[in-house]
Amino acid sequence: MSDSTLTAEVVMDTFNSSEFLLAPNEFLARMRREMPLIYIPETQSWMAFRYDDVQRILTDFNTFSSKVKFPAEQKDFTQSMNFIDPPRHKSVRALAQQSFTLKRVEAMGPRIEALAEELLGKALEQPNFDFILEYANPLPVIVIAEIMGVPTEGHEHFTDLSNRVVTMDQGAIAEMAAYFRTLIEDRKQNPGDDLVTALVQAYEQDNDRLSEQELVDFCIVLLVAGNETTAKLIGNSMLCLRDFPEIRAELIAHPEKIGDFIEEVLRLRSPVQNIIRTVKVQTELHGQTMRVGDTVEVFMGSANLDEAQFEDPLQLKFGRKGRHLAFGNGIHFCLGAPLARLEAVIAIRHMLERVPNLRIQDDADLMPVPSYNFHGLVSLPVTY
Ligand code: HEM
Repeated sequence: MSDSTLTAEVVMDTFNSSEFLLAPNEFLARMRREMPLIYIPETQSWMAFRYDDVQRILTDFNTFSSKVKFPAEQKDFTQSMNFIDPPRHKSVRALAQQSFTLKRVEAMGPRIEALAEELLGKALEQPNFDFILEYANPLPVIVIAEIMGVPTEGHEHFTDLSNRVVTMDQGAIAEMAAYFRTLIEDRKQNPGDDLVTALVQAYEQDNDRLSEQELVDFCIVLLVAGNETTAKLIGNSMLCLRDFPEIRAELIAHPEKIGDFIEEVLRLRSPVQNIIRTVKVQTELHGQTMRVGDTVEVFMGSANLDEAQFEDPLQLKFGRKGRHLAFGNGIHFCLGAPLARLEAVIAIRHMLERVPNLRIQDDADLMPVPSYNFHGLVSLPVTY
């Protein structure tokens, strides 16, 4: 990786290289040390790398807004809770939490187990298979679709649609919004035992009425936010088992430690590497002035490896003190964190029980997700 002087151009070239995407740690450490805050003229945005700065930006919603600029023609997926600030955020999130409860998530445990068994069983019909495509990807998509009451037959189409919505593909956003408008209307007439019905009912009873758009946008974010992210987390767990071979034996002997293991995977290989805020009030950081309207890319993936916050940050340790920021921090803390954790724990526990020696193929050509906003693999050939 480049040793040249850190300019905006060098940083962007490095971030867009597959070498960095596969192993970002060394370069991120250099950014934390030498240039904790940098302005990139090309994208007109700041990038912040240290734990303290990342945490401050995420929690200080009076200075840093979650609003982003959308294309003029975009109406759908603009009122989703991740894009709005208080006081509106509080009402939308409260309604969401009333329906997407911990009880609903925990009740999915047996179904997630059954699904893990079915998907892995099918994959194991071959001596080698793609861990991401056959196991890590379909699991979260099917689970969230079932929770919401969306038919799962065409889940490949939903995976594709969901991945395109995340990249703000206008066609995909319009298609998904139209789908949810029809589903919401249907559930008003034919209530079921699913989340969309619960959401419609909560929406109809709520005094602090939300708009229909907010309801549709919540369905969209729920369907898309947890798919790629959780799939990457499950895939990154395999990379951590490769990097720390002694941990595999410990987890097989003590499956109760898998929850702790997943927290370390989230910290060491954060699936969401950074998120965006917009400067709302002019502010100073590291002697530089961040002006109103500037964008800030906040690197949780780097904060989570900050030597000033974590002892031996590159080591995988159980029972660490200190909190990682992989799910964000403050009022926008990931609503789906309990579900993502449950899915990842079950996926890895099931894999270790059933095929304890499942490992990445020696000659595997690992292909990273082609974006520095995420960390994970597109495909992961495994054998046993
Ligand atoms: C490993 C998996 C996941 C990771 C790493 C992740 C990461 C994040 C992060 C970093 C945020 C904060 C965004 C911000 O501050 O702007 C967030 C918010 C959110 N996540 Fe997740 N997420 C994951 C899984 C899920 C799942 C499974 C769901 C739902 C099914 C979900 C739904 C949401 C929602 C609705 C928000 C917005 C919360 C708000 O703005 O109040 N996420 N997630």
